[in-house]
Amino acid sequence: MHNDDAIVVSDLSVQFAGIDRTTALESVSFNVRHGEFVAIVGPSGCGKSTLLKVIARLLAPSRGTVAVHGEQAGKLRVGFVFQSDALLPWRTAVQNVELAVRLAGGDKHNASARAHHLMEELRLGDSCDKYPSQLSGGMRKRVSLARALAQQPSVFLMDEPFSALDAQTRIHVGNFFLRILEESKQTVVLVTHDIEEAVALADRVLVMSQRPGEIAASFEIPLPRPRDYHATRFVQGFQQLQQRVWDTLGYGATNGR
Ligand SMILES: Nc1ncnc2c1ncn2[C@@H]1O[C@H](COP(=O)(O)OP(=O)(O)OP(=O)(O)O)[C@@H](O)[C@H]1O
Ligand SMILES: [Mg+2]
Repeated sequence: MHNDDAIVVSDLSVQFAGIDRTTALESVSFNVRHGEFVAIVGPSGCGKSTLLKVIARLLAPSRGTVAVHGEQAGKLRVGFVFQSDALLPWRTAVQNVELAVRLAGGDKHNASARAHHLMEELRLGDSCDKYPSQLSGGMRKRVSLARALAQQPSVFLMDEPFSALDAQTRIHVGNFFLRILEESKQTVVLVTHDIEEAVALADRVLVMSQRPGEIAASFEIPLPRPRDYHATRFVQGFQQLQQRVWDTLGYGATNGR
């Protein structure tokens, strides 16, 4: 493992048991540098969520290894935003976030203050005392984001974190996230269907092929920071970068872009 690397994925394969023995990932290898923001795009079912779960140790690979810096030292804290939000249903929204602050070492008083602050920032101030079942999908997603932020993780693993949000909320929440990540230089692996979003946010975009997923291409995104979730799409060079990603996915010729 190189000193600059936060995550090293080597020759990873995942095969699910069952009659058809689905191979979700095939020989996936890549590194993520400390403080780097990597976005992963690829067609539905190519193994993106599976890959994040293996990195988070929620799923054991059939072959290959994942090394996450700091793990041996017991310092590893992974903030995971699941594609399905995975909130605790018996706790209110703000209590879900408070628990994450407490698990990260915060005392009771601070946990409450910090959780309420995050809820406000994510425009959920009015929904603190609601239970997950009483929230919309986009609201649950934001609680899930607040919870990941509350953990102050060294590595963020985010599975389509902004996909359920309306356009205005997405810009607000996206920018809130960008400010935190750019200031603290956390390492991020973000999965998204949205190629524009991937290019707007990331330092590097990895393109996965159809299942069984492999890394088909890797693009450095040398756009200046700090970035704006929305306005970055209009800076010089953005369209060309986006086009290159589209071309790799094989949509370049047919969608008229
Ligand atoms: N627990 C499981 N058991 C069996 N097969 C699974 C399991 N989880 C995922 N798969 C299969 O593995 C493949 C990859 O699934 P995964 O959820 O990683 O895709 P994805 O790239 O995240 O898709 P999407 O973009 O739709 O979220 C799919 O064919 C899926 O059916
Ligand atoms: Mg998925």
